[in-house]
This record gives sequence, C-alpha cells and structure tokens, in this order.
Amino acid sequence: MQSFKFMLQYLKKYKYRYFAGVLTLFIVDFMNLLVPKITGTIIDGLTLNTINMNKVYIYILSIIGVGAVIAIGRFFWRFFIFGAARNIEKEIRNGMFNHLEKMSVEYFNEHKAGDLMTRFLSDLTAVRKAIGPTVISIFDATVMTLMVVVQMMVYVNIKLTLIAVIPMILICVSEIYYGKLMEKRFKQSQEAISSMADFVQESFSGVRVIKAFVREREEFKRFSKANLLSKEKNLSVVKLQAVVMPLLDVIIGLSSLITLVYGGYLALIGEITLGKFVAFNQYVSMLVWPMLACGETITMLSQGGASLKRIKAVFDEKPEIFDKENVENLEKIKGKIEFKNLTFIHRGDSEPTLSNINLKVEAGTTLAIIGKTGNGKSTLVNLLLHLYNANDGMIFIDDKDINNISLKTLRENIAYVPQDNFLFSNTLKSNIAFGVENEEMERIKKATIAACIHDNIIDFPEGYETIVGERGVTLSGGQKQRSSIARALMKDAPILILDDALSAVDTNTEESILKNLKENRKGKTTILIAHRISTIKNADIIMVLDNGKIREVGSHNELINNNGIYKDMFEKQQLEEALEKREKNLDKDINNI
Ligand SMILES: Nc1ncnc2c1ncn2[C@@H]1O[C@H](COP(=O)(O)OP(=O)(O)OP(=O)(O)O)[C@@H](O)[C@H]1O
Ligand SMILES: [Mg+2]
Repeated sequence: MQSFKFMLQYLKKYKYRYFAGVLTLFIVDFMNLLVPKITGTIIDGLTLNTINMNKVYIYILSIIGVGAVIAIGRFFWRFFIFGAARNIEKEIRNGMFNHLEKMSVEYFNEHKAGDLMTRFLSDLTAVRKAIGPTVISIFDATVMTLMVVVQMMVYVNIKLTLIAVIPMILICVSEIYYGKLMEKRFKQSQEAISSMADFVQESFSGVRVIKAFVREREEFKRFSKANLLSKEKNLSVVKLQAVVMPLLDVIIGLSSLITLVYGGYLALIGEITLGKFVAFNQYVSMLVWPMLACGETITMLSQGGASLKRIKAVFDEKPEIFDKENVENLEKIKGKIEFKNLTFIHRGDSEPTLSNINLKVEAGTTLAIIGKTGNGKSTLVNLLLHLYNANDGMIFIDDKDINNISLKTLRENIAYVPQDNFLFSNTLKSNIAFGVENEEMERIKKATIAACIHDNIIDFPEGYETIVGERGVTLSGGQKQRSSIARALMKDAPILILDDALSAVDTNTEESILKNLKENRKGKTTILIAHRISTIKNADIIMVLDNGKIREVGSHNELINNNGIYKDMFEKQQLEEALEKREKNLDKDINNI
C-alpha cells in the first residue's frame, strides 16, 4: 500500500498523458469492434442478396478507413503512455541518485554498489513495465472485454455470451493467487541478481589482488555459485510462468471450442444468422487476447510491485547526517578549530575510537597529527568534515558548533585530501578542477605546480587531457596522491586537510610540496596527518594520538624536550634513516669496486 502511494505521486504528475493515452486506447478498441460488424453485415447482405457490389466496395473502404484510424491511434497511445512511463522511470532514477547522495558514508559501507546498481537498472525496468505496457494491457483488456461482451450480447446472443465469459472469470480469480506467488519469487530473483552484481563489482575492482594472490579459480568458483543461485531463482520465476501460461491457453481453447459448438448449433437451428455466427467467432477470437493479457498483466504487475518495494526501501532510509533546522550559512570561515572533550564511538563498536580530545587550533596555524595506525586520525578529520555525527558541543569552527553550521558551508570551506586518493575516470584536468566551478588553466597549473605534479602531467602524451583509468590506475601511487593534493589546493579553502597525503612521495618531493604549502597556505589553517616526523616537524602544533587519546601536544622542539613517545618515534626514525643512508652508501661502494 505504501509503495502504491509512493508510485501514485509520480503517476499523478502525468495524469493528463495517461488520460490521453487511455482515451486513444478506447477509440482504437471501439474502432476494432466495427470490423466484425461490417464483415457480418457484408456476409448477411450477400447471402440475403440485399446489397450490391458498390455497397460492398463502400464497406471495404470503410474497413480500410477504420484500419487507418486504428494504426494512428496505436501510435498515439504508445506515445502517451510509454512516454509517461519513461519519464517516471527517469524521475525515480534521478530521485534515487539524489537521495543516495544525501546518505552518510556509513550507509555505503553497508550497501554495496552492485546491489544499488541492480535497483537503478533492472528493478526500475520492472517498474517501468508495470506502469507502461501493463497500463495499456489493463485498460485495453478491460475496455475491449466489456465492449466485446456488450456487442456479443446485443448483436448476437446473451446465452452464447455467458458461456464465453464464465471461464474468463475463473481465470481472473485464480490469477490473484498466481500474482502473489510471482511477487515473492521475483523478489528473491532480484536479490540474487543484486548479490551477483555485488560480487562482480568487487571482483573487478580488486582484480589486482586476485591476480597477485592467484585466486582466479577460487573467485570463479564463488562467482559460479552466485550465478547458479541467480539462475535458480530466475528459473523459479520462469517455471511459474511456464506452468500458468499454457494452462491459460488450454482454458481459452476449451472455451472457444464450447462456444463454437454451441454457436454452430444456434446457427443451425436458426436462432442466429450465419453473419452473426461469423461475427461471434471474430468476437471470441478478440477475447483471447484480453484473457492472455490478463496473465501477462498479473505477471508484470507482481514483478513491478516486488521491484517497487526494493526501490522504495532505498527512499525509506533517512539520511543520518543532515542540516538541522537553524543551521547557519556562514559567508566565509576564518579557520579556527576547537575540539572540546571530543569522544566518538564508531557504529557497532563498543570502545570509543577517540576519547576526550581537547585542543584549540587558531586560524592560520598548521596542526599535525601523528600516531600509530588505527589510532583515530582519519576518524578525527572525518568528524571535522561532518562525515560522521559528533555530539553537540564537541567540535567548533570559528567558535560555532559544527552541528549548527550547514553542511554546504562547512564542506565548501574545507579542502580535503583523502587517505585513499580516489580519482574519477575522467581527464586529469577535470579531476583537478573537480571542486571548483570553472576549469581555468592558470589556476589548475598553479595548483599542480604547488603539488609537484605539473611536470609529470605535461610529460604524458595527452598532458592534462590524460584520462585517468578506473580508480586512477594508470597513474603511479605518488602521482595519484599529488593529483589529489592539487585537487584540494584548487579549492583554496580556509581549512586544508591532508590525510597521510605525502606517504607515497620521496623525501625530496615531500620537502618541495611542504615548502609550497607553507607559501600557499599563509594565514590559513592546515591539518597534516602523517606517520613520518619529517613531514610534520615544522608544524605549529603537533598532536600525538595514542589509542584515541591525546598523548602529547606541542611544537617539535617542545615534544623532543618532553622525552615522551614523540621523541622515541623521532629517534627510531632517525636511526632508520641513518641505516638506509649507510646501506645506500655501501651499495655505491660495492658498485665502485
Ligand atoms: N566506519 C567505521 N566503522 C567502524 N569502525 C571504524 C570505521 N572507520 C574506522 N574504524 C575503526 O576506528 C579506528 C580508527 O580508524 P582510523 O581510520 O581513524 O585510524 P587512522 O589513525 O587514520 O589509521 P591509519 O594511520 O592507518 O590511517 C580503527 O580501529 C578502525 O577499525
Ligand atoms: Mg587514516
């Protein structure tokens, strides 16, 4: 019922189109009925010798005229109704995309791309069929049946008509049960397709891992299993249809046979004329289609209903992160950040990922966050971006609670280099200019030079027009990372977050990027997350996270003097660097010998 209401809001929008379509349908059906009448009249006229050849020609011409109207009408009903259905399909699809964009990142952890894609494609197709061809079938079948039945009663014989109609009623009643069964089976079949799509999507994005671990055969076996399940579920739908449809044929055939025998008898005893008997047979053959259509209609409606429920389930999930009623749209953020007793537990976790984080970062300062992996660094910046919900009174930007700042303002004022450096399958130019409205080459160049990627890009044969492969695989890890930095720098936002963004570049490039950042980011806030002390030693404030808690805070020198874990990390990394240098020198010496 809920799904029906959901659908109705779309159908209402196109009510005139549907009305026009149904009206044309009605006219065409009416025209269809004229043909048997005319042929009946010709036959009766010829047998009784009441019409001459000229009249016959006129009747034949009128049959041609009726045929032309039917043909034009058929075009228009398709135009009106199929057009409306396609439009509704497009609107639901747009609505679904729009709705999904509002969902939190958590939602996408739980719902895989393959499943969502199945809903976008195959489920929506099933819905479209239910509101397009099926609407035609329903109206056509009902109108046609009613008209034919009335004609049969009035023009031919009531008793004969009743005999022809009884099996139809039986068929309609039993098809309600069939519809319910079909809906259940189709839902299962769509679920199986969804999980197969998930599997395919994940396998191909992880193709490198599969190949590197030589798991092709195992993956294929797992895929075959998913595919087999999908086939079985699909077959259960087809089997049901395969049993019901021929059964319908048999019933229809039997009913035609009975009416034929009884009609023949009535014609023999003279209760109806030969012309009427011929017309009656044409009418009976006209009823075959609506009866078959009834089966098809129930199939499509049940499948559309099952798919509609799956689509509505997407719409029913409410976004967890949204603007509260009185959020502020700040013109420009200065960049002061404050964490007050910030504690955060990930959904499904029992222990907090971050506990009691207290820190004030004045606008224009550089904050560095360092800590072992899994210590909550990315979680902290994701909270700042409001990708997860923090409680009120815990995170402030320019002294305003981020829960009171609109998501648009907040995110427009933060440039972000995510840890996974995701790039779209598009040109490098479009990727770098992703966060801004215009793709001014001068600005793009400025950003790429600062991110030390410009020289690499112009070395590519296609330069800035180079298409980045799916998930940016044609670029090296370091190139991807620097493109992602350039994309963030393009935004020139008051706050810049680099989440482990220099991990894949060598120390020389790292130094150049940091130098450029210092110049570019004067007076603006920058947050640097890193594992290497070389990346962060010049930051104004360094926060050492340990088990989700602040262990130490201060400048590099202060922390060294502190003799705490920062100093330990520093010494260890220095030792490693020294060892590396010695190894390199040794290699050189050996080569020189
Ligand atoms: N969406 C999530 N749901 C549940 N737990 C999560 C989620 N994201 C991260 N975690 C957990 O939170 C902890 C902190 O993760 P986070 O990504 O913030 O670490 P990190 O400090 O950035 O690590 P790294 O240095 O490896 O990037 C980890 O234990 C991780 O398993
Ligand atoms: Mg991280």
